[in-house]
Amino acid sequence: MVEFALPKNSRLTKGKEYPIPENATRLKHFEVYRWNPDTEENPCVDSYYLDLDKCGPMVLDAILKIKNEIDSSLTFRRSCREGVCGSCAMNVNGKNTLVCTKAIDEYKGTIKIFPLPHLDVVKDLVADMTNFYAQYASIKPWIETKTPAPSDHERLQSKEERKKLDGLYECVLCACCSTSCPSYWWNSDRYLGPASLLQAYRWLVDSRDENTGERLDELEDPFKLYRCHTIMNCTDTCPKGLNPAKAIAEIKKMLLVRQQG
Ligand code: SF4
Ligand code: SF4
Ligand code: FES
Repeated sequence: MVEFALPKNSRLTKGKEYPIPENATRLKHFEVYRWNPDTEENPCVDSYYLDLDKCGPMVLDAILKIKNEIDSSLTFRRSCREGVCGSCAMNVNGKNTLVCTKAIDEYKGTIKIFPLPHLDVVKDLVADMTNFYAQYASIKPWIETKTPAPSDHERLQSKEERKKLDGLYECVLCACCSTSCPSYWWNSDRYLGPASLLQAYRWLVDSRDENTGERLDELEDPFKLYRCHTIMNCTDTCPKGLNPAKAIAEIKKMLLVRQQG
């Protein structure tokens, strides 16, 4: 279980308590982090009550209902509602997750919804992903080749070569893993974090990529890669069931083999 951690700019106060809906048949209590950069006020936690018999089944449905029917100023990211865009990542009851894939019924008692931990907050549940995306761009997440492309067909892979990308290509860049990693919390300016490293490994093992040596050179750095201490929060929290810690270990292994070779 990932320990609950407050967003960076938190000096939390108790916020508004919205009324309990009348004649509710299945009541659920939600506490939601609120912070508006346009006011001088500290962040706070607002309290909402929903009748689950009048709400969709997922945590995102509850957040949408709050915005649509109780408080239109509540700010958050979401797009696909299918667990594929990665934009609705938040911290729910202490664990990072994609709220569109989490059923409300999975949680007993009050559901506490916070932005991803240890990032600056833009507003309410929206975390600042600028550094995260810059780190992703730094690993060159595209195919790099030196030989000319075949003239009559695409660059092909065998089934075995393609299989090596399983467990990697499914990453939706939600940042749940990186923002649950203590090493990333303390060194996010220099440590790439599990998401970018999993992506780096995805290109290292792509049989069509011809830049493996340079990619490894870039990663062979005490901070970019070796701040991972195998704490495993990343793998524990990934809502897509991926294993960034294993990908990081595989990169370290590739570097070791290269040193010994
Ligand atoms: S590895 Fe999992 S938790 Fe990390 S960014 Fe990708 S999908 Fe999200
Ligand atoms: S295994 Fe590495 S990347 Fe994953 S949480 Fe631990 S230190 Fe962070
Ligand atoms: S809204 Fe796209 S992953 Fe949740």
